Amino acid sequence: MELVETGVEGLDAILNGGIARRAAVLVSGRPGTGKSILGLQYLYNGVEQFDERGIYLSFEESERDIREAAESIGFENWAEHVENGDITVFDKRQLLQEDEFAGTLDTLMAELDGGDYDRLVLDSLTMFGLFFDTEREKRTYLLKFVDVLKEFGLTSLLVAEQSEAFPTAGGVSLENFLTDGNIFMLQTPTEAGVNRYLWVSKMRKQEIQTDIFPMEITQGGIAVYERAAGFSLIGGNPIT
Ligand SMILES: Nc1ncnc2c1ncn2[C@@H]1O[C@H](COP(=O)(O)OP(=O)(O)OP(=O)(O)O)[C@@H](O)[C@H]1O
Ligand SMILES: [Mg+2]
Repeated sequence: MELVETGVEGLDAILNGGIARRAAVLVSGRPGTGKSILGLQYLYNGVEQFDERGIYLSFEESERDIREAAESIGFENWAEHVENGDITVFDKRQLLQEDEFAGTLDTLMAELDGGDYDRLVLDSLTMFGLFFDTEREKRTYLLKFVDVLKEFGLTSLLVAEQSEAFPTAGGVSLENFLTDGNIFMLQTPTEAGVNRYLWVSKMRKQEIQTDIFPMEITQGGIAVYERAAGFSLIGGNPIT
């Protein structure tokens, strides 16, 4: 099976190599847990390390906000990659100009068709859901959308905002069932700041490490670490 490396320190080891090509993976977590940074890093590494083109769809931010976020975390060639077309950004202005999702989907399909992209990030599914009046309509379009991504050969991260740190037994949402994999991002407050964790809870067709691993967000992006002796300890060696 062909794997797509995220290039995120530690994460590919947890995934035993990477994400299966053409998979759509849900990235969920509460606000500020690092979901958008993971998405930016995935696309940035794609270009910088793997010669893969990416497309970033944001319903929440402008192209400029996204660039500033990328540059502030240390992805200093972001703007250059956008300029020369290795990364395409569809921001909220472009995505929300149609009232009906069908129109936006047509625009997107045209771009994907001509674009030869390998990686896609949708930030976020939660906003995407607001296009639809009913759960049924949302489900139909989500299925269709995920199918389209696969048809175009894209390996995708779909960001979902969560109100709870962990999904409750009854509350595992629709999105969890429609996607091939699930990455949860967590944070717990400490006296010094926050401890951050990453948990890959599901990856269809792949053997993965299902422990919860500590991670950090620093200049240069996200790094995931081997589980330290205590659950709450950050540190240890990066998984290689
Ligand atoms: N240079 C940096 N060094 C360390 N931490 C940083 C840096 N830049 C951002 N962060 C941390 O990353 C967090 C934001 O991450 P991100 O925007 O990816 O979260 P998110 O999960 O997308 O949140 P939301 O759901 O609100 O969109 C900030 O709260 C901040 O703590
Ligand atoms: Mg975000």
